Amino acid sequence: MGDHLTKSGHGTVPALRWEEPPDGPVLVLLDQTRLPHEEVELACTDVPALVLAIRTLAVRGAPVLGLAGAYGIALAAARGYDVDDAAGVLAHARPTAVNLGYGVRRALAAFRSAGPGQGAAAALAEARRLHAEDAAASAAMAAHGVRLLAELALGGGYRILTHCNTGALVSGGEGTALGVVLAAHRAGELRRLWVDETRPLLQGARLTAWEAARAGMPYTLLADSAAGSLFTAGEVDAVLIGADRIAADGSTANKVGSYPLAVLARYHHVPFVVVAPTTTVDPATPDGAAIEVEQRPGSEVTDLAPSPLGTQAYNPAFDVTPPELITAIVTENGVASPVTAESLAAVCVRKDAR
Ligand code: MRU
Repeated sequence: MGDHLTKSGHGTVPALRWEEPPDGPVLVLLDQTRLPHEEVELACTDVPALVLAIRTLAVRGAPVLGLAGAYGIALAAARGYDVDDAAGVLAHARPTAVNLGYGVRRALAAFRSAGPGQGAAAALAEARRLHAEDAAASAAMAAHGVRLLAELALGGGYRILTHCNTGALVSGGEGTALGVVLAAHRAGELRRLWVDETRPLLQGARLTAWEAARAGMPYTLLADSAAGSLFTAGEVDAVLIGADRIAADGSTANKVGSYPLAVLARYHHVPFVVVAPTTTVDPATPDGAAIEVEQRPGSEVTDLAPSPLGTQAYNPAFDVTPPELITAIVTENGVASPVTAESLAAVCVRKDAR
């Protein structure tokens, strides 16, 4: 099962890695539930431990969920589990991030098409391939995103507002939206990163602030409800967020609280930009109404907000922003703007057509 291990002590922040000690392969996760106070690793030696880690958000964020799903199949194969059963439970551990099922399917297909006795090695090789592709996608999105910021003529020294966590913790590389912010910071173009705390699980306060501090970014944390006054004060040049699933029409599911930011951004004439790899685009989901939004336990809200015993809480993990509120979707293949089914399909022509 999942075992809490060492302090990670890494200079970089690999969200997950594969290890092969003598007693069998392990998927090692940086336990994101323990950040920012502790850098603790969680060793998953079996599929139930990994599923629990996904459900409890020890590993989270769309692209890295795809990697967890793919390595999970490799783990199941190497440890002698029924790989089809493992694929079913892994793919459904969380419902909204389309990358999870994508990663599972890629490793499963590799496992099935391998020769006798080669399935585990083939699944692992495919997980590693997906990992490398995701790192490359991060770098390409950062380059496209920084170019887009310049094209949007925001003036030098961007003040960027972000929501949730979209950096190296969610990626095989440096991330999606936060990867763009990091590239702008390295280019000396980031004046301020505004970090929404991101209630109720505080991915902004706990994780994005942690990554921003490690990168030496100028950042300021705010309560989600303070964003409106920030726009009114003219303090936001652009909003950059990631995505958990992008429907064929460009409707984008991301951490709950993203949609209100899109409405604010439109009212204040501020660009609202989604940064996501094409693996997050789901052509099989036609529009926002077809996206399954994960509902999480109300206790996540009431634990954070002291309330009378028995108080019920509404706790959707995500909300959906319609394409007309999105200025641009940045992918590794280029930028879709304006966001339409056609512009999105054009950037989603994947090289390997998997
Ligand atoms: O519930 P979480 O923490 O997994 O939600 C993650 C997000 O909403 C991220 O913004 C999204 O996965 C994009 S990360 C590239």
